[in-house]
Amino acid sequence: MQHITLNNDVRMPVAGLGTFLMSPAEAEEATLAALRAGYRHIDTANGYYNEAGVARGIRRSGLPREDLFVSTKLWPSGYGRAAKHINATLARMGLSYIDMLILHQPCGEYLAAWRAMEDAYKAGKVRALGLSNFPTEKIQEVIDAAEIRPQLVTVENHPYHPQDDLRAYLAQYGIVIEAWFPLGHGDAALREEPVFAELAEKYGKSPVQVILRWHIQKGNSIIPGSKSWDHLKENLDVYDFALADDEMAEIAELATPGKAYYAADESAYERYLAIPDEFDAQEAAHREALKSEVLEVSTRYWDIQLSHDVDGLREVADPRAPFVHMGITMDREGEIDAIENELILTKRADTKELNVFFYEDDTVAIVLRQLELTALVGGSTAINPFMATETYTKQTDNSWKLISFVFTHINPEGYQYRFLAAK
Ligand SMILES: NC(=O)c1ccc[n+]([C@@H]2O[C@H](COP(=O)([O-])OP(=O)(O)OC[C@H]3O[C@@H](n4cnc5c(N)ncnc54)[C@H](OP(=O)(O)O)[C@@H]3O)[C@@H](O)[C@H]2O)c1
Repeated sequence: MQHITLNNDVRMPVAGLGTFLMSPAEAEEATLAALRAGYRHIDTANGYYNEAGVARGIRRSGLPREDLFVSTKLWPSGYGRAAKHINATLARMGLSYIDMLILHQPCGEYLAAWRAMEDAYKAGKVRALGLSNFPTEKIQEVIDAAEIRPQLVTVENHPYHPQDDLRAYLAQYGIVIEAWFPLGHGDAALREEPVFAELAEKYGKSPVQVILRWHIQKGNSIIPGSKSWDHLKENLDVYDFALADDEMAEIAELATPGKAYYAADESAYERYLAIPDEFDAQEAAHREALKSEVLEVSTRYWDIQLSHDVDGLREVADPRAPFVHMGITMDREGEIDAIENELILTKRADTKELNVFFYEDDTVAIVLRQLELTALVGGSTAINPFMATETYTKQTDNSWKLISFVFTHINPEGYQYRFLAAK
């Protein structure tokens, strides 16, 4: 892994993972996969609504915080309250500092936001500062007003749109370019340019690796986005070859004025400023989606109980799962035995109240149900109401498995277990 030393001496891994357009769950998985593949730099933003997902991926990796470089961005509608948003970002991500904090768009109260970022920098909440999509005049305006100059400017950058003038201007301040859309947002036409096929063949690399190598030799930091394990690995494997000067010049011929995939104008800035600065919103939607995933498995579990489907039980429940009925514990095979021998005979289960709780970064879910049952349990008829506690854990393939089931009788006269002899 190669690093760039920024103009404040902070070291930043050249290559990072971009998480634009990823849902919180996708960002979590892509972050975890990238960190397992060897990445140590992850880029997110308030405006991607997936920072909490990225943070979960980071925690699941178990890597020490100091080994990672976390980059995020403030959104313009929040610039006037930037100090609050910096603290909210830290809280959302469960971090005590951010490595690179960037102003996402050049509109709104960006000078006020820059001052708040400088305060956060001085307070140790941020290690480096950046600008995103700022044109030269606005970068200069920030530099002229700044106590702390930017360390990085991130802009659309790829062989069609290399931004050499901007690079030359930034060089006088030692500011690094970070290329967003480094692969042209995945445009096949870019990676299928004959020059990349020719150089890929020569170096035994893929066309994408040649494009990324071109970026690195230009001095760019790169944050290619990918949800694919193979692409994540491929995109990191670019340090064992070098393009010659004439090959860099050949690629430079692809530069086409105006060939950018994205250009914002004043009307775009108006739209950006109209977006509410409520960046936990998607996290709430993410929780709802997780809740329905878990309830789908839980509903299936109760269908299995009612139909006495022992094969289904083997599918939904972990073999080590304890099943506790009124204090009596058995393992999954014991439970199956009990069902087959009609010791547990649930005929009907009506849920009166239901709650789902998540723990351990949303990898453990507890479903708590108050139930009215028509059943025979352990030879006793059911005295309602009952409480069932189902615990599920998220598997590596993202499915949920039952890892424990606890079934207790709620006795309104003192909450004690009570059995009635079977008639
Ligand atoms: N500051 C800003 O305003 C701004 C704006 C846009 C983007 N960004 C940042 O830049 C990052 C990158 O942008 P991006 O992801 O949109 O575009 P990109 O990195 O240029 O391209 C990503 C696309 O290329 C594909 N890809 C990645 N590696 C590949 C490989 N080895 N072979 C073939 N295809 C490959 C990905 O698909 P697979 O998933 O199949 O690999 C994905 O469709 C964003 O995630 C974000 O962090 C910042």
